Amino acid sequence: MPLPSRVKLVEVSPRDGLQNEKNFIDTAVKIELVNRLAQAGFPNIEAVSFVSPKWVPQMADGAQVMAGIQRGPGTVYSALTPNMRGFDAALAAGVDEVVIFGAASEAFSQRNINCSIAESIARFEPVAEAAKAAGLRLRGSISCALGCPYQGEVSIASVVDVAKRYDALGCDEIDVADTIGVGTALRVGQVMRAVTEHIDPARISGHFHDTYGQSLANILASLQAGISIFHTSVAGLGGCPYAKGATGNVATEDVLYMLHGMGIETGIDLDAVVEIGQWISGHIGMKPATRAGNALAARKANAQACA
Ligand code: HMG
Ligand code: MG
Repeated sequence: MPLPSRVKLVEVSPRDGLQNEKNFIDTAVKIELVNRLAQAGFPNIEAVSFVSPKWVPQMADGAQVMAGIQRGPGTVYSALTPNMRGFDAALAAGVDEVVIFGAASEAFSQRNINCSIAESIARFEPVAEAAKAAGLRLRGSISCALGCPYQGEVSIASVVDVAKRYDALGCDEIDVADTIGVGTALRVGQVMRAVTEHIDPARISGHFHDTYGQSLANILASLQAGISIFHTSVAGLGGCPYAKGATGNVATEDVLYMLHGMGIETGIDLDAVVEIGQWISGHIGMKPATRAGNALAARKANAQACA
């Protein structure tokens, strides 16, 4: 299959990137992060979650973040909404897209959203209906599509099953998520091809955590399977509080470097993203988890020192 000439990147750092941070990050910093990402050209930013603040305290200020940002005209702003309470908050906050998030693993579904897969789909039904009625985009995320921290192996059939259920709910986009970053390229290609036997590849995205350093290879395998939407996070921020040991999402800088190097357009300014990654990492007090971002930042510092 020929590779796509253009890829859509969904920047998930304000949500997936920050949700697992132990120290509460100021709302003003979250707002600046979202604004800077929009200015860098991201077509879609996963900005906030409307989940229980007891479960994920870092995301408690979603309404304030949405109220404080300057909306870029070309940017879709998304929020995670596990139930109607979350949906109502997301609608009131003016998001463009809501994300229902389930799993291909029963064990993870219980740990993450406190219900079985079947119960989660029943909970999502009114959310999906309400999203359609309000004219919002609807996205469905399938966690543990490549493996589960609690049950281990996850069958391709169970990934396909959840994808079909999301399709029946009217999801515009469906995310195949490697929550703990265990997948390798061959299996990722198999999973993507199995899902796209039933659903248009233009509506499927890849969401890869980089725990085992496989994300770029997995993105290439997905591109070869016809996928052209990927979730990334500046400086490789990220992790799920209910997937212990999993590290951040694949770094946006690394993915942009790879895609642009392959002649694939994204519409995103890599230099701006490198600066954002270094800035937000400084705020959190971590070294950016991006090879390309750190190399480009070092090159720029050297050039400035020599000037
Ligand atoms: P529950 O305890 O089963 O539900 O939680 P509940 O309805 O009994 O509610 C419990 C409490 O939460 C109540 O408050 C509710 O009012 C409140 P209390 O009476 O105890 O004071 N509550 C809410 N508050 C604010 N907003 C809401 C909301 N709903 C209930 N929407 C629930 C079920 C789903 C709410 C809970 O399990 C939860 O919030 N889980 C959060 C899970 C989460 O955010 N995980 C991280 C995101 S998923 C992820 O990172 C994976 C992804 O990146 C893809 C991948 O990598 O795999 C997307
Ligand atoms: Mg994730």
